[in-house]
Amino acid sequence: MSDKPECFIDEAGLRLDGRRVDEIRPMKVEMGVLSRADGSCYLEWGNNKVLAAVYGPRELHPRRMQKPNEVLVRYKYNMASFSVEDRIRPGPSRRSTEISKVSGEAFEPVVMTQYYPGAVIDVFAEVLQADAGTRTAAINAATLALADAGIPMKGLVSACAVGKVDGQLVLDLNKPEDNYGQADLPVAMTQDGEITLLQMDGHLTPEELEEGLEMIKKGCQQILEIQRQALVSRYGNEDEEGEDAEAEISEEVPDSEEGEEEEEERDDSFDNEESEAENADENDVTKEDEGEEDERQ
Ligand code: CDP
Repeated sequence: MSDKPECFIDEAGLRLDGRRVDEIRPMKVEMGVLSRADGSCYLEWGNNKVLAAVYGPRELHPRRMQKPNEVLVRYKYNMASFSVEDRIRPGPSRRSTEISKVSGEAFEPVVMTQYYPGAVIDVFAEVLQADAGTRTAAINAATLALADAGIPMKGLVSACAVGKVDGQLVLDLNKPEDNYGQADLPVAMTQDGEITLLQMDGHLTPEELEEGLEMIKKGCQQILEIQRQALVSRYGNEDEEGEDAEAEISEEVPDSEEGEEEEEERDDSFDNEESEAENADENDVTKEDEGEEDERQ
């Protein structure tokens, strides 16, 4: 582990990595990176590198673990043994078990669990490179992996931490700040600002806690924007008309069964000249039907 720095914030108010006290590290996300998973996301945040994969909803075994009226969101946080300076012993630890539990619970208020009673949604968050803030990085990746899997959610979850170094609050701790700082407060919240995870190491006064939560809220708003942009670039342009956006989405999923069916239909109509005329008739009928429907409305 590197030595404790003499000071964390210089005279110009900048931190060891050049950030201001209320600035988050640069974040980069990419969705749909794993073809076998139902949803996935790769996220880089500063020097953190995290991969999240979602499987499900699927049948839960053993059956005694099933929740009769809702889906079970099972979250597994894991740090790869090569993700830190010292090798981490593979397998669950007290730390990873705790992080998995609280992170899974951070999604309970947003996932519409009532739609899949008795089933399970498995969320895996693998930390490939750790540099402080991995539980929050994993949550930010997991929310996009859940969205990528098409899991119905009331909104996205964003997470970041605030801490205290040299007696000052700083947003999104880097590794020296995390290791040698006076406090670490990781928080996850919904896009409406509802807190779904809050943990704390160290000491903060009630005033500092209040101020820290405000800083986190602003940080989470920036992260939410990055998450929304990732969704837009994968699933369509929010500025376009609904129809155009839909076209873009269907172009992106040619491998799906629906896509294949559509392609077969198109091939048939090109092979058979008569079918074109038939299609035209069908279209007319549809239009008439629509007209009738309009009148009914
Ligand atoms: O990563 P996060 O801040 O959510 O959790 P932490 O327990 O506060 O750990 C802070 C950082 O310490 C991690 O991100 C790793 O860089 C490092 N760490 C480590 O080197 N070895 C461990 N067994 C656990 C954490």
